[in-house]
Amino acid sequence: MTEAREDVRRDDRYATREKYASLVGIRRQARQNLSDQVWNYMHCGTGDEVTARANVSAFDAYVFETPLFAGISNPDTGTRVLGRDLSFPAFTAPFGGGETLFHPDGMLAVGRAAHAAGIAQMVPVAAGHSLEEVAGASPAAAVFQMTFCGEETAVIDMMHRAKAAGYGHICVTYSPIRQWRERMMEDRFSMPGAGTPSNFGPGKSDDAMLRELLDFTRPRWDWAKAARVIAEAPLPCIVKGVNSRVDARAALKAGAVGLYVSNYGGRTLDREPASITTLAEVRDEAGPDVPIVFDSGIRRGSDIATALALGADAVCLGRIAALGLAADGEAGVKRTLDLLRDEFWTTLGHLGCSRVSDLSPAVFRSMP
Ligand SMILES: Cc1cc2nc3c(=O)[nH]c(=O)nc-3n(C[C@H](O)[C@H](O)[C@H](O)COP(=O)(O)O)c2cc1C
Repeated sequence: MTEAREDVRRDDRYATREKYASLVGIRRQARQNLSDQVWNYMHCGTGDEVTARANVSAFDAYVFETPLFAGISNPDTGTRVLGRDLSFPAFTAPFGGGETLFHPDGMLAVGRAAHAAGIAQMVPVAAGHSLEEVAGASPAAAVFQMTFCGEETAVIDMMHRAKAAGYGHICVTYSPIRQWRERMMEDRFSMPGAGTPSNFGPGKSDDAMLRELLDFTRPRWDWAKAARVIAEAPLPCIVKGVNSRVDARAALKAGAVGLYVSNYGGRTLDREPASITTLAEVRDEAGPDVPIVFDSGIRRGSDIATALALGADAVCLGRIAALGLAADGEAGVKRTLDLLRDEFWTTLGHLGCSRVSDLSPAVFRSMP
């Protein structure tokens, strides 16, 4: 019996010399590396965290149809979105205001890994490294995210800085009031020095724009003011936080060249709908030609296929990329991206999609 067993050829499809065999090990390592406080900061939502959980679980309701013999063995995962060639349809999401707590190289590591994996990066204004430092670290830095607040001229000045540094698009966000994050309240979490954003003046805490960003008694913005700034912007703008037909219409009317469907991973207001459930409505309103990126709940390659089938041109990777950063810096993000791309590739193959543009609602057997 023993001899016979030795003859059995081992199936080594899953054997790998890589440090992390799958995303499970990356998550495990990230958990080991982070304190409870920082882990909670990464994962928290708001209120009861219903939306943060629903963002992930809502994907389960989209069930694929896989007709026998329809699958193919060599799908092409490449695409082009917002003027960037991508090895698979993904950007790293703008996650800031503490990402250097996950790893001191923060957005520098994320950008280098994105470049090595052949995708592009969205860089937050609240990053621990300046927008110029991140752009200098890798050519992946494609989109600069900034929150609309303060004086219009200061916002436009910052956009000029982003253009001079080589970014191709601005991602506009807005937040009228602070968020109710109970895990952080319970942890009495306060951002240590390492989490201080670098994009502001030398004294930072004296910088008028940073003060505005953190001061929620500031004057509100509205679509008219947003439209004025978008019209004067030196770079094309996409608007993040579009989760309805009404907002899609308003953002396009205000001059946005693209839409970003997201509820910020459930970190803004609890009991908003899971983002994946609003995507098809936004695509329907925008029509076929407006670029749409999507995030909130992407955890694996098949989630990317689901979002594209429902109308996204690409996804943004938030917590899943942050876990790679926390596990192993640049190498951890790179491995995360490679695993996501490879699973997306197998998903396309099983669905019989030879290219990204073949994904449509026809891949589903049932939808909620
Ligand atoms: C730790 C952390 C910090 C974030 N900071 C920002 C930010 O500065 N600007 C922004 O637009 N979104 C920010 N986000 C939201 C992400 O860009 C993205 O929308 C969200 O992570 C997507 O949800 P998911 O992580 O569940 O996929 C942050 C998210 C996390 C987890």
